[in-house]
Amino acid sequence: MSLPSSPDFAGIHTRALAELSDAKNAPAMQAWRTRYLGRQGETQKLLDGLKSLPPAERPAAGKAANDLRKALEEAWEKQAAGGGSEAGAGASGVDVTLPGRPTPSGAQHVVTQTLDRITDIFHRLGFALADGPEIETEHHNFDALNTQPDHPARDEADTFYLNLPPGPHGRWLLRTQTSPVQIRVLEKRKPPIKIIAPGRCYRRDEVDATHGIFFHQVEGLCVGEGIGLPHLKGVLEFFFRELLGEGTKVRLRPHYFPFTEPSFEVDCSIPGKTFRGKEWLEIAGCGLVHPKVLRGVGVDPEKFTGYAFGLGVERIAMVRHGIPDLRLLYENDVRFLKQFAAHGAV
Ligand code: DAH
Repeated sequence: MSLPSSPDFAGIHTRALAELSDAKNAPAMQAWRTRYLGRQGETQKLLDGLKSLPPAERPAAGKAANDLRKALEEAWEKQAAGGGSEAGAGASGVDVTLPGRPTPSGAQHVVTQTLDRITDIFHRLGFALADGPEIETEHHNFDALNTQPDHPARDEADTFYLNLPPGPHGRWLLRTQTSPVQIRVLEKRKPPIKIIAPGRCYRRDEVDATHGIFFHQVEGLCVGEGIGLPHLKGVLEFFFRELLGEGTKVRLRPHYFPFTEPSFEVDCSIPGKTFRGKEWLEIAGCGLVHPKVLRGVGVDPEKFTGYAFGLGVERIAMVRHGIPDLRLLYENDVRFLKQFAAHGAV
């Protein structure tokens, strides 16, 4: 048996360079690198094999193996940096043969889509858009809306008060409803007024399938001469039919809100749909603006009357799309949100 002799370093070198120049794209170059320079690659095997050579040959073979490795490293670097133009790596080092990276396009969140749909319908009915701050005063959120100091909604346990010195309008809080926008608008402008005010509200609620600590409402306010219940009912009927379908029925059920008199809850019935086995779903609050509210902002209730309503946007999104749990809307799971994107992207 003959002793193992030094490997054919020159032969390996030539073969490796030939294969490298054939590696025309990044995956092929990577495969080449693994084959020759990887941890179990050919140059490593040569180095591992040195032990089995006759001791006299080891130093020269060791040097040759290291030189080879270095030469191959350099050849690879050169090609990766654009030396081998045919490999697709241009002078910039960009491999133009790689497939492009798709840029995911965004889509509107289902709550934003619902809000847009709602505002669109009210625009057609002649409502203008109004806005108010999310950090409100106790006065605008409660007092001016005829909500007495002992009303449960004002409790620390129900409302997020801010740790700020009270201003001329009392303590600061995160608004619990969009109704204070009614006051903000009436303070600035005289009737006739016909606005909607979409926005975010906050409450100290236990989070569950139908409650969150923040949610969106759309407030509506119409004040003018001779405005009454028929106008309110007509607007709501038109709105809900446009939103939920032709056959949708609307009913007003007597209720209590401090800032309207009389007050109602609005229920909808949608053909072919039930809500926990029931035909009617409670979907909004409304009423005729309380004379005290009008008087408080300097509007004469003998001359002007009006109606107001408030809708919960998440609830409407849930009804429209059959979403069973409010929390799904805000967990930001793209797999869930994607279903509502118009073009399948999020
Ligand atoms: N702000 C009420 C709420 O958050 C909803 C509401 C009810 C608004 C009646 C109105 C209204 O404008 O007239 O529960």
